[in-house]
Amino acid sequence: MRILGIETSCDETGAAVIEGESENKKVKLISNVLASSLPLHSKTGGIIPETAAREQIRYIIPVIEQALSKSRSSHLDAIAVTVGPGLIGSLLIGVETAKTLSYIWQKPIIPVNHLFGHIYANWIMENDKRGMENILFPAVALVVSGGHTDLVLVKNHQNIKWLGGTRDDAAGEAFDKIGRLLNLPYPGGPSIEKAAKAGNPKAFKFPRPLIGSGDFDFSFSGLKTAVLREVTNLDKVNDRTVADISLAVEEAIIDVLIYKTLKAAQKYKVKSILLGGGVAANQKLRERFKLSMLNGQSSIKLFVPPKNLCTDNAAMMAAAAFYNYDPVDFRKVIANPELYFD
Ligand code: KG4
Ligand code: ZN
Repeated sequence: MRILGIETSCDETGAAVIEGESENKKVKLISNVLASSLPLHSKTGGIIPETAAREQIRYIIPVIEQALSKSRSSHLDAIAVTVGPGLIGSLLIGVETAKTLSYIWQKPIIPVNHLFGHIYANWIMENDKRGMENILFPAVALVVSGGHTDLVLVKNHQNIKWLGGTRDDAAGEAFDKIGRLLNLPYPGGPSIEKAAKAGNPKAFKFPRPLIGSGDFDFSFSGLKTAVLREVTNLDKVNDRTVADISLAVEEAIIDVLIYKTLKAAQKYKVKSILLGGGVAANQKLRERFKLSMLNGQSSIKLFVPPKNLCTDNAAMMAAAAFYNYDPVDFRKVIANPELYFD
């Protein structure tokens, strides 16, 4: 089954084609196109929703055309589209385009929750050669992005239960806000990762918020305040201090994410851990996860999508639609910026 995915929840405009193989339940990536208005947002230090949506209007048709032409076949079985959560102006562009195409081409349309998409990035095979190991259930998934930090229990494709999430800022949001405090280019996550490479691990230490709370909630806004306090107390902020603070921030965020995910994995006796979302593109987080599972000599398998499938993309939305194939009448597809897990 060939599915065209369309994703416009934030500043990206994505279209992708996947082939879902019904016999062995695998998803092959056929094409994956992404246009970003990031350079425009770097100048303002954050996303301006109006600017993002205006750019998406320009990109959406060319991006879809490219995804289809790269797939080298005009055959399509269905269209999957992100309906939320996200920015309303941005979501509407993807949703209205997908509805129009569904009507004109007479193809079924499947509305997809963006957060499910991040989880389903784990099921995408990038090429035939990479024989993906089967993801065994139950699994615990950590969705860690600019808008969300959530732990969910995936009992099977039909049963996904929210365990906990951030009470304030998401991990990516914390990276972005702290990046701004340190005068680093937007988005803060990759900038802090880069700066941290030259950091001295002994220079600063920040709190690990809610690490002992016993639940699966997170809180990252205090970290931003702690950094602000340090920066205000410093005589001058130079490359050295930026590197040191970046490293301490990265360490604090990674520690909490791994600790809570492993706790959830233990409690629910899962067979797999799945990572997803932009922050999962962080190299240290990926390596540290691997290491902590090896240290515990765990039989749990860790799955981490390639970096370009951690950050927003349309392939993951199409994959989510394949495993949860539930087309609806195109008139009933509505953008919902507040959509969540339950
Ligand atoms: O999943 P995503 O592309 O969009 C949302 O759904 O939010 O995630 C974007 C977030 C941003 O906050 C960005 O700073 C963060 O992911 N991010 C990273 C890295 N790459 C992106 N954070 C830490 N390290 C990275 N390498
Ligand atoms: Zn996302």
